[in-house]
Amino acid sequence: MKRTMMILTFVGMVACAACAKAPAEQAQQPASPAQSQPQKQESSMSKKVLVAYFSQSGNTAAVARQIAQKTGGDLYRIETQTPYPSDYGTLLDQAKQEIRSGAKPALKGNLPPVQDYDVIFIGSPNWWGTHAPALSSFVAQSNLQGKTVVPFFTHGGGGMQNCERDLKKQLSGVTVAQGAAFPGRASGASESALEEWLAKLGF
Ligand SMILES: Cc1cc2nc3c(=O)[nH]c(=O)nc-3n(C[C@H](O)[C@H](O)[C@H](O)COP(=O)(O)O)c2cc1C
Repeated sequence: MKRTMMILTFVGMVACAACAKAPAEQAQQPASPAQSQPQKQESSMSKKVLVAYFSQSGNTAAVARQIAQKTGGDLYRIETQTPYPSDYGTLLDQAKQEIRSGAKPALKGNLPPVQDYDVIFIGSPNWWGTHAPALSSFVAQSNLQGKTVVPFFTHGGGGMQNCERDLKKQLSGVTVAQGAAFPGRASGASESALEEWLAKLGF
């Protein structure tokens, strides 16, 4: 009798363990088409994407094109009304001065209709450890409330430095996703690094 009780207790414990596990296992079952529909709507791929970028010498533009291609996003080039000098030394001096003074240079043309997008990638080269001043102008003139902003940068060896931090300061109340910095190259970012980052963002 005592032995029968022990066996019944053990069988009961196994059965209970199976009951407890069932919901988690069910959650991992492939969803039926009707069930999978809402999940698909939640994925970043179903969101409308804009890739806005400033680029002086083409490296950030190359990454922006890659992002747009992989996310199905629209591209927008942020340009200043007055072009930056082509002489590298003069450009370095002007950029340093603008950054020091917190300049917001006037932008060229009409800004994109950010209200039409869910996710807005914003890109810039690393200039003196921070983002280019044109991004401050873009952010100040665009209503990004309710949007998800994804910063990205290219650099000449310094990496991210304060680029993301400084941009975030100007985006208070806006959702800012994890940004990325890529070594500046005319051919753009390494495919694997870019894809890994985009996958983390749900693309
Ligand atoms: C004015 C200026 C300042 C720069 N400062 C930095 C820096 O502080 N750290 C860094 O890693 N690269 C720096 N760079 C290199 C650029 O970040 C790099 O070349 C970038 O990929 C250029 O992007 P673009 O071709 O889109 O303009 C600087 C370049 C310029 C023109």
